Amino acid sequence: MSETPVNSVPRHVAIIMDGNGRWAQERRLPRLAGHKAGAKAVERTLKAAQQAGVRYLTLYAFSTENWSRPQEEIDGLFRLLAQTLDQYTQNAAKHGLRLWVSGAREPLPAAILDKIDYAVRSTAKNTGLTLNLALNYGARQEIVHAVNALLAEGKTHITPQDLAQHLYQPNLPDPDLIIRTSGEERLSNFLLWQAAYSEFYFTPVLWPDFNEAEFEKALASYRARKRRFGGL
Ligand code: FPP
Repeated sequence: MSETPVNSVPRHVAIIMDGNGRWAQERRLPRLAGHKAGAKAVERTLKAAQQAGVRYLTLYAFSTENWSRPQEEIDGLFRLLAQTLDQYTQNAAKHGLRLWVSGAREPLPAAILDKIDYAVRSTAKNTGLTLNLALNYGARQEIVHAVNALLAEGKTHITPQDLAQHLYQPNLPDPDLIIRTSGEERLSNFLLWQAAYSEFYFTPVLWPDFNEAEFEKALASYRARKRRFGGL
């Protein structure tokens, strides 16, 4: 495969939004205040991605490991997610926004599942940016889910294409660029299969401080890369 052209915009950007808790702690605020500020950063980033011409934006909103957090924090996060889903669904038509979700349905609360289903259904025909929320998402769980689906179909031999077609969002292209904020430099069970050829961008900026300028820095770094996909 040939190199991507210089100055290209990544078609799919995926983000590990990290550092909400530390942002709150630095201000002696409850952790939930950090998540609320994080939701504002989501809005800014969504606008920046739309303006830049990014087609798919995946955000790691809640991992399968996040269930081990205090119940109060989990409840607060789901309240925020419910509000965000409502707000984005209402405004989706205006911006051409399409909402997708990646993750296991179990054990998400019924109220959230209803909102997800409504959001996905009512935005399905929009042709602008696709916002894919990774919600109750774990990459190992996703791969095992795909393998189990293939076994249920009676497959005894599978190809990489078979597996890719049974991921949570089979029509989602692999991420070109994966961003992680807050100085952590690891994948934490995020898109393990899809990240095979992704470019990585790490920034010390805490997620609630992430904004249009920081997004542009990540895109500039991406533009400077040469992607060879294993070729020369
Ligand atoms: C990581 O920060 C962030 C999360 C676990 C949740 C991400 C959620 C949001 C940005 C808020 C709402 C989301 C949407 C899509 C509207 P952390 O709590 O692990 O931070 P820390 O490592 O500093 O403790």
